[in-house]
Amino acid sequence: MARPKPAAKAPKVRKAQLTHTVGDFEAAFWPDESPVDNAVVMTMGALHEGHAALIRAARKEVGPEGRVAVTVFVNPLQFAPSEDLDRYPRSLAADVRLAEEHGADVVFAPLPEEVYPNGTPQVRLSAGPMGERFEGATRPGHFDGVLTVVAKLLHITDPDYAFFGEKDAQQLAIIQRMVADLDFDVEVIGVPTIRETDGLALSSRNRYLSETERTQALALSRALFAGRDVAAKGPAAVREAAAQVLAEADGIDLDYLALIDPHDFVEAPDDFQGEAVLAVAAKVGSTRLIDNVRLQVR
Ligand code: PAF
Repeated sequence: MARPKPAAKAPKVRKAQLTHTVGDFEAAFWPDESPVDNAVVMTMGALHEGHAALIRAARKEVGPEGRVAVTVFVNPLQFAPSEDLDRYPRSLAADVRLAEEHGADVVFAPLPEEVYPNGTPQVRLSAGPMGERFEGATRPGHFDGVLTVVAKLLHITDPDYAFFGEKDAQQLAIIQRMVADLDFDVEVIGVPTIRETDGLALSSRNRYLSETERTQALALSRALFAGRDVAAKGPAAVREAAAQVLAEADGIDLDYLALIDPHDFVEAPDDFQGEAVLAVAAKVGSTRLIDNVRLQVR
């Protein structure tokens, strides 16, 4: 008689604790003195599969006994008055569910008064020249606002690891540079972009797109893939192939298409060789989208 198979070990079911104040967060994230690794995933909420991948990467890094925090905070400092701060999607209950399903222990969702108790901060971090190009040229001050909140959240959460998506390639590069230049004691880890099967990079802003706009938006990833396909032919071929796709596309109001040296986040010279980022930003309808791919240029 066949022996009964041992029951599969049930995955650890986590209940993520939702906290709103720094004190409650600290009590939940540091319940005792046990020396476990811990990680933070910073978000503005409206979590999707891209964030889930960040949370899973964080859980994998710290192991089952480590601690993972997800912050949910729509940071007013990084939005210009003309941008979508007020209509930025908010879905906290669903965010907590997604965070716990993918391995978070604590969700920290503070109000602006908790993060900025003295009102709008007078002293902010500056992203310097790295924050003035590409996204920074169209969104002046954006990266100063990002760095200021990331620095604050790193102080509050005090993690061993912080995970950010490669989809925001310039943000990731600037945060990595802040951590290196200002001696933050944290390892910043980038996680590859998650895409729909048709190529669209996941973004909380995709929900603003109409059906037609969503189809038009596919030209962005198509352009990036076309550039990546000819990476072995050098920078000029990459730029040309990607630009051609965008030139033939409908409904794309292009902001920039750039082949970037990821180290300083500057436009790659014509003789560039090595790992590069091909990045695009465009408005589709009234929604501004960004996307990028990493490629080996020869
Ligand atoms: O990438 C984001 O969602 C935000 O810029 C971040 C890093 C959470 C800071 O507000």
